[in-house]
Parts: sequence; structure tokens; C-alpha cells
Amino acid sequence: MDDELDGLLAQVLARTDTADPRLAEIFRSAVTHLHAFVREVRPTEQEWLRGLDFLVRTGQTCTGTRNEFILLSDMLGLTSAVDAVAHPGPPEATPSSVEGPFHSPAPRRALGATIAEGPEHGRAEPTFVHGRVTDCEGTPVPGATVDIWQADDAGFYDTQDGEQPPGNLRGLFTTDEDGRYWFSSVLPSSYPVPTDGPVGELLTALGRHPMRPAHIHYHVEAEGFRPLTTHVFVAGDEYLGSDAAFAVKDALVVAPEPREDGVLGFAFDIRLVPA
Ligand SMILES: [Fe+2]
Repeated sequence: MDDELDGLLAQVLARTDTADPRLAEIFRSAVTHLHAFVREVRPTEQEWLRGLDFLVRTGQTCTGTRNEFILLSDMLGLTSAVDAVAHPGPPEATPSSVEGPFHSPAPRRALGATIAEGPEHGRAEPTFVHGRVTDCEGTPVPGATVDIWQADDAGFYDTQDGEQPPGNLRGLFTTDEDGRYWFSSVLPSSYPVPTDGPVGELLTALGRHPMRPAHIHYHVEAEGFRPLTTHVFVAGDEYLGSDAAFAVKDALVVAPEPREDGVLGFAFDIRLVPA
């Protein structure tokens, strides 16, 4: 049996004929690991077909605003693994984190504007967010683009919720001459990733909860610097230690505190790495 499996793998690898050395490396490694998986697990034909059906349904669940494959990658910790490989970053830089499946184009907004224009306004805890974009030495980066997206207090993004206007809880800001950005929002809450698709079925079957700790997403770009995709997490959230997407890093957790005017606020500074 093992000889037959060895021979089969050798035949598949031998037929790889590409002038692209990176494609050859990726394909050889993927096929070798997948054959090793079959050798170790010895799936029945029914189990193999069930696995293929899971992937088919994962694809069929994707829409223009829902990407079940990104969700699958997140839930397996693979997105965070790729992120770690892609962005080793110096320790003084703001750590990156996964993008997640809910990014969409944000409306451009003036500094200080609110991004909360939906039914959460007046219902959720108002929160003021500010910070400064700098290089790793603390020199301000003016003109940086800060792309923000977050879920509401019920845990839904605008793209999942017909009651929120399009672009709600999203904003595209440009830092001022001191590298500063600021805006008003509401305090995000922890939320479950979508559980009505195949990834939800898998989480349930594995005895895993689907919760992500409360967070706001950031994507920051500035000329001469590496783009940064990250999150800021709300301190004290009960799911910080068991994020379904394995995306929490200590340096990304902040504690909102009441300001002089009584509104909650927190600062999140961004330190970019030169390109
Ligand atoms: Fe999110």
C-alpha cells in the first residue's frame, strides 16, 4: 500500500512541468502535504466526497458581499499564519492583523465626522476614536489614508443588515499635517461570524464558538510606507482570549475611557514601516 502511494505521488510530481519556479514549489508542497494527509487519515470514499462537497458549498455560499472562503481561512488560523509570514515587522511598528471578510469601499469623510449614521445612533454607546499615524521613530505621516470599518452594537456590518444605510460604520479619512485622525462612532460589540453556512456547520461540529471580540478594522496607506491592515480590540471583551479568527495581538487592545465631556474615547496610534 505505502509503495503504491509513494508511486502515485511521484507520478503526480513528475508531471509538473512549469517554467514558473514559485508555482512549481507551491504545487509540489501542496500535493505532497495532501497526499501525506490521505496516507495518515485514510479517508473513506464517502468521507472524501463529503469533504469535496463541503468545499463546493463553501464556494456556493459566497456572494458579492460574503466570502465564505475567507471565513474558512480565518477560522482555521491560516489567514493569521499567512499574515505572520507576510508581515514580520519590527517590534516598534503597529502589528498587522487579518482583514476579515467584511471590507467594502468606505465613504470619504472629513476628520471629526461620525461614521455612525444608522439605527445604532442613539442606541449604542457613543465613542470617540483618535490617533496619530507616524513612522517607527514617531515622525508624523500627514496625508495618510485611514480606512475604517466596524460592526454595530448588535454585531452586524452594513452589508449584512438591511436597516443600516450603505457605508454605515465605515469611513475613509486622511490624516492632517500632524498625522492625526479622529472620528466619532459607537462602541463595537463582540459578534458571531456568520453561522448559517458550511463554516458555521464546521464550527458547531468541532464544538467551537463563533464569536469575535469587539473590534474596529483599520487599513492604513501612505506614500513611502508599507500598507497596514489591522484591528483595534476593546479591552475587557470576554472573547479576547478565544477569538474565532485567531487575530488578537496584545498591542492592538485598547481600553476606552470616559472623556471630560462624558463620552467614551480611546486613542489608537499607528506606526508604519517604510516601504
Ligand atoms: Fe470584523
